[in-house]
Amino acid sequence: MSANQPKNNESTTGASPGWAGWLRHFEGNVGRPLPAIAGGEPALVGSIPAAIRPALARSLARFQVGEGGEGRVAREVWMVRLGSIDDAYRAALGLFVREEGRHARILGGMVRALGGELMKSSWSERLFVRGRRLAGLRLKVLCLLAAEVVGIGFYGAVGRRCGGALGAALAEIEADEAAHLRFHVALFRAETRGWAARLVFAAAWLAISGLACGLVLVDHRATLRGLGAPLAGLGRLYVGLIGGTLAAVVSGEAEAATEAAGGLTSDRDLGAARHTGDVTAGLLGL
Ligand SMILES: [Fe+2]
Ligand SMILES: [Fe+2]
Repeated sequence: MSANQPKNNESTTGASPGWAGWLRHFEGNVGRPLPAIAGGEPALVGSIPAAIRPALARSLARFQVGEGGEGRVAREVWMVRLGSIDDAYRAALGLFVREEGRHARILGGMVRALGGELMKSSWSERLFVRGRRLAGLRLKVLCLLAAEVVGIGFYGAVGRRCGGALGAALAEIEADEAAHLRFHVALFRAETRGWAARLVFAAAWLAISGLACGLVLVDHRATLRGLGAPLAGLGRLYVGLIGGTLAAVVSGEAEAATEAAGGLTSDRDLGAARHTGDVTAGLLGL
């Protein structure tokens, strides 16, 4: 967690969810040098077995499309009035979108290094973009929140199995996604003060995040299997991340989020789960 990120309790106990702190966090990330893999140099993926590269390139190309497609929300947020957001939030959301664009550039380099081709769109990306466009800001951010959970699990599992320059860059992106998750959680903690709002959030969150994680497991099963990442283990990791996020928003109790995020770390087969559980606990401010 960066020094600028507000702690979770700042977002629940005061009138302000700490957007100025989040703006400083994203401003502090601007100008970071791109990792070497963004240059698309094939030598940097030399340690990745040739047999897995086509599937891995396809998977990363799909994620690359999703990372680059969120610009509209950064403009729309300036027309939206919600009780808990201010101009600092709006500016922070704009920088968040830029950070996702940076992820797209890095993933694009990975795809080129692996000898794959970039995509203009994918069916799963179109589904989520269409859903987001029909929705108001809160539902859009809910979709973004689901994308963070998806990214934390997938980038973590893949990055730790690939290692090298590609693995290091995916670890950096995973850490960014963990901060993004906390940023979006802060919005929903501020926007769901009553039981009715929390119930609506819980229903929408479980449906959308469950769908998003299920699609990833199906869509990227060849890549995950090829890298030796057990689908069941990643599925349990997603269940824990979804539950931990729900607990952080709805109950606001740190212990509930710890249990939800930590329960999945017992899967010894998925080394990524242990690490990501730690990341999740950290991003939830635990
Ligand atoms: Fe991202
Ligand atoms: Fe993200």
